[in-house]
This record gives sequence, C-alpha cells and structure tokens, in this order.
Amino acid sequence: IKKIGVLTSGGDAPGMNAAIRSVVRTCAYHKIECVGIYRGYQGMIEGDFKEMGPRSVNNIINKGGTILKSARSSEFRTDEGQQKAYDNLVAGGIDALVVIGGDGSFSGAQFFSNSFNFPVMGIPGTIDNDIFGTSHTLGFDTALNTVIDCIDKIRDTASSHNRLFLVEVMGRDAGHIALNAGIGAGAEEILIPEEDLGLKRLLESLEKSKASGKSSSIVVIAEGDKIGKTVFELKDYIEENLPEYDTRVSVLGHMQRGGSPSCYDRVLASRLGVKAVESLLEGKSNFMVGMINDKVALTPLIQAIKGHTQIDRELLRVSDIMST
Ligand code: F6P
Repeated sequence: IKKIGVLTSGGDAPGMNAAIRSVVRTCAYHKIECVGIYRGYQGMIEGDFKEMGPRSVNNIINKGGTILKSARSSEFRTDEGQQKAYDNLVAGGIDALVVIGGDGSFSGAQFFSNSFNFPVMGIPGTIDNDIFGTSHTLGFDTALNTVIDCIDKIRDTASSHNRLFLVEVMGRDAGHIALNAGIGAGAEEILIPEEDLGLKRLLESLEKSKASGKSSSIVVIAEGDKIGKTVFELKDYIEENLPEYDTRVSVLGHMQRGGSPSCYDRVLASRLGVKAVESLLEGKSNFMVGMINDKVALTPLIQAIKGHTQIDRELLRVSDIMST
C-alpha cells in the first residue's frame, strides 16, 4: 500500500479531526502518502480529494466537527455511484481507505470493499456509542461532558423555581448518552429505549420523590425512547396527572455534537488512527478498530455493522439507587 485515502461520513463527532490527524501522521511516519477525501462518499464520487501531509493537520486536534466535512450520500448506494468512486480512487492512485463514521458508513465501506476488492478499515465516530466492537466511539465522551454541563445549568434554574425538567438527549436508537449523562448529572429518572420504565412507574417515582422532600427534579429522556409520547406530550401527561409539578422541556439537540473534544476522545482518536493505518499496512482489511477492555482491538466490519451494543445493567441499578 502506497497511498491511503481518509474520509469522515455520517453525523460528525468531536474527535474526528484528531483521528484524521492521526491517520495522516501515521502515513507520514511510515513514509506513505495520504489523501483527504471531502464530504464522505459524496466527495469520493466527485473526486474531491486533497493530498495531506503532517503539516496540513496542524492545530486540529482540539477542534470539533471535521475539516474534511461530512455527508450522507444516497448516490453511493447505487452501482453507478460506487463505480464512479472506485474510478476516482484508481485515478488518484489511492489503494486503501480509512472510513471514520458510524454503522451506516461502515455498511457502505463493507459493500464497496466487497464489490471492488478494495482494502478498508473503519474508525467508529459517532456521539451515540452504538457501535458493536468498541467500548467507546469517538465523540461519546465529549458529548457526555457537554450534556452534563448543560444539565448542571438546567439544575440551577430548576431548583430556583422548584420545577421538573424533562431533558431530551440524542443517541438515535440507543440510550448510552442518556444513561451515562443522566447518572453523571444526577437525574431523578432516565428513560432509554432499551428499558421500558412505563409511564405509571415514572409517575410513581415522581410522586415518591416529591414526598421525600425533593423540590426540583431532572428527568433525562433518550430521543429514541419507546414511551410512545414526544417529550412535549410527556410534559402534558405529567402535568395532567401530577398537577403539583411545574414542568419544562429542554431538547439539547445538535449542540451535543459540537465542541472541542475531551482528552479521552483525543487520545482515543490518536490510538485508533495509528492502528487503522498500521493494520492496512499489515495487509488487513474489512475491520473496525475499537477499544475492547481498554486495549485497541480489531472487529470484523460485518460484526460491527450487525452486532448490537448492550446497556450496562449495573448502571441501571446505580441510577435507581441514586434516585433514592
Ligand atoms: O448519530 C448521531 C446523531 O446526532 C444522533 O444522535 C441523531 O439522532 C442524529 O445524528 C441526528 O441526525 P441529523 O444531524 O442528520 O439531524
């Protein structure tokens, strides 16, 4: 392998820039070339490439977002789109790819690699932490810190007004952000898609908490929660059933995806980038690099795509005990 292409795809996540930097510098260290591909697979189809050397990634380790930009490309799902992308890679002399993204991006990489026998390596980048084969995805730790910072601020106003706040957080179909940030921010209840708490239990818990002398409360709700109500409908439902509660809703939204990456995410990105490039140089392909038991480890891409992450049941118990 003489030239590696690197791209970011899907939702951006803090730490993606640190991972790009790591890939570029590991290539330079091993004296091979590196090309940045802009706007994910769409840029691959359009040949939007730029040669990158160690100095082109100066001063980005601390930056949120992705300097290579990101996109979700529907054209890449077509045979014609993939063929154009392949032709561009060949024309650019690129003979392997590092894809930084989530499971949708990995599906594209796997399909492309199988169709053209092209070496690929995945780095998990998403705030949702919903990728099998790694304890942490890039951006998860930063997003957790952002969420607890926001909830700490919400707590100030909640307690000043004796209010109940329903805080909706991201995570797509997974509750990892909600569960971890909920515990970290001291939430009264945490609603996640993996565990159906039920509306009745939520009301009971809120009643109990009022009776125990708490004057304000925070409930964290994962956006993918299966409670069957939007967070705004849930507010109305609580106020109908527990009129003593003065309730407000806060949907944190995309601010959770922004900001300077935490130290954990920067170190993670640096480690995964090195492993991705060196694995390609060893002739490996179709793997995702991740963290398993605090060690960098490879998982076949297909397993990373098809596998499901589990909620840590110990965390559920801790959360239960903490709301006493
Ligand atoms: O996958 C990251 C994520 O931020 C999810 O948490 C969220 O559901 C989704 O992306 C939002 O996507 P978009 O930025 O396209 O609205």
